[in-house]
Amino acid sequence: PVLVVDFGAQYAQLIARRVREASVYSEIVPHSMPAEKILAKKPLAIILSGGPSSVYAEGAPRLDPALLEAGVPVLGLCYGFQSMAAALDGTVEPTGVREYGATRLEVIDGSSQLLEGQDLDQNVWMSHGDSVTAAPTGFDVVATSAGSPVAAFEDREKQLYGVQWHPEVGHSDRGQEVLENFLHRGAGLEPTWTTGNVIEEQVERIRAQVGEGTAICGLSGGVDSAVAAALVQRAIGDRLTCVYVDHGLMRQDESAQIEKAFGESTGGAKLVMVDAEEQFLTALAGVTDPEQKRKIIGREFIRAFEGAQADILREQGVVEGDRAEATAFLVQGTLYPDVVESGGGEGAANIKSHHNVGGLPEDLSFELVEPLRTLFKDEVRAVGSELGLPDEIVWRQPFPGPGLGIRIIGEVTKERLDILRRADAIARAELTAAGLDRDIWQCPVVLLADVRSVGVQGDGRTYGHPVVLRPVTSDDAMTADWAKVPYDVLSRISTRITNEVAEINRVTLDVTSKPPGTIEWE
Ligand code: XMP
Repeated sequence: PVLVVDFGAQYAQLIARRVREASVYSEIVPHSMPAEKILAKKPLAIILSGGPSSVYAEGAPRLDPALLEAGVPVLGLCYGFQSMAAALDGTVEPTGVREYGATRLEVIDGSSQLLEGQDLDQNVWMSHGDSVTAAPTGFDVVATSAGSPVAAFEDREKQLYGVQWHPEVGHSDRGQEVLENFLHRGAGLEPTWTTGNVIEEQVERIRAQVGEGTAICGLSGGVDSAVAAALVQRAIGDRLTCVYVDHGLMRQDESAQIEKAFGESTGGAKLVMVDAEEQFLTALAGVTDPEQKRKIIGREFIRAFEGAQADILREQGVVEGDRAEATAFLVQGTLYPDVVESGGGEGAANIKSHHNVGGLPEDLSFELVEPLRTLFKDEVRAVGSELGLPDEIVWRQPFPGPGLGIRIIGEVTKERLDILRRADAIARAELTAAGLDRDIWQCPVVLLADVRSVGVQGDGRTYGHPVVLRPVTSDDAMTADWAKVPYDVLSRISTRITNEVAEINRVTLDVTSKPPGTIEWE
């Protein structure tokens, strides 16, 4: 792989994604990993990410010069660039000119490996206080800017390169070209990381791991579990059984749509639909506290999933007493960002609990199959499309596991769910018709079930419930802004909901960002 050494900025994942967009496989390693361990991974090239503050600050992460002497092509970005200069005999110092945001760059050497053919004058994204004021011996200075006497350098013989700016961000005019020049020309790497190759490789890996065994996959209806299941199905065919727990908290026709779309697109993978509506609604009766609702839904989900697992294993001839010996594989849609964020652990582990399926029964030892462990979300979508999953699954907006259970403020009952389902279906239909599905992250519709207000309809007084529209934009759900949905679309949604759902007589819009609000109301 190409290894991205993470110096602690938020840019490492973005760099890794950009490398993959250049059709080269990349992985992230922490800067704390010793150089010999990094080199033992046999990197084809190394990219040093941006990072915190000054390379001379106390406790600032250091670059081990061994990484620059191993004959591996290296590209340093921002802090990584400065740490290269500092690790060799260059000079890094505060020049008094801080550069933040869009900055004019002057390319000095148009024939440089990194910048060949680029405009001599361009905008790049900078974010630094210190600057490289003298390049190390043997390096050519190939670009400069007002605050960075040395804004880019290269030693083509040693295959060492660095730029002060952030080529990985979209605001840098020719950023992706810089990365591609480094990868394809500087390091001579072939663009082989393609969706087709990813699928082939994963299918082989799954076959090697599962052998003649059987696997179970919990489907949520979301893109990750669907793509993971489709990959495993391609690898082992009907030795995979998917389980979908319908907790009765899904949106209108949603479970049926998921069943249909999944069946068609995987050429009839085995799918067990567990109808658990009654089980969930009974457990939720009388409960109004949001955390309690979530806990109950999580608990009942595990029960339903366990029940289905036991049935499947029994069918396959795995008897109770032998459970611990049975090798069954559990497919999970874990993505690469989850792996990076949880410390980047390697290899498949035996687990007892996982946030996707909750705790598994104590006496069952499942081995995890995680075919998306190396992939970013956009790659998962590309794989899903290539495998023939329909757009409605590949581009499905996030929907919380507890479903409409956390979108009814107050007790969850079947009657209230049905009211919310009708209102939600209208909002979704209108947003889709307006072509907004990919512009907004998601749009929860929330029923304020214990609130009533007076209205008038026809000639009569009404005393109905309000719903809240919560359209948001977001990149990762960690932060969000309320989406500026055009008034005419909001107006159509409002008119239709109050006309078509008799119990609702007011439609309101949530104009709170996150923070301070969360996306969901509970
Ligand atoms: P909040 O409300 O925390 O939501 O701003 C952030 C994102 O996560 C989704 N969400 C969940 N997804 N299980 C899930 O799978 C959950 O329990 C859950 N709670 C919230 C929410 O829809 C939003 O996209």
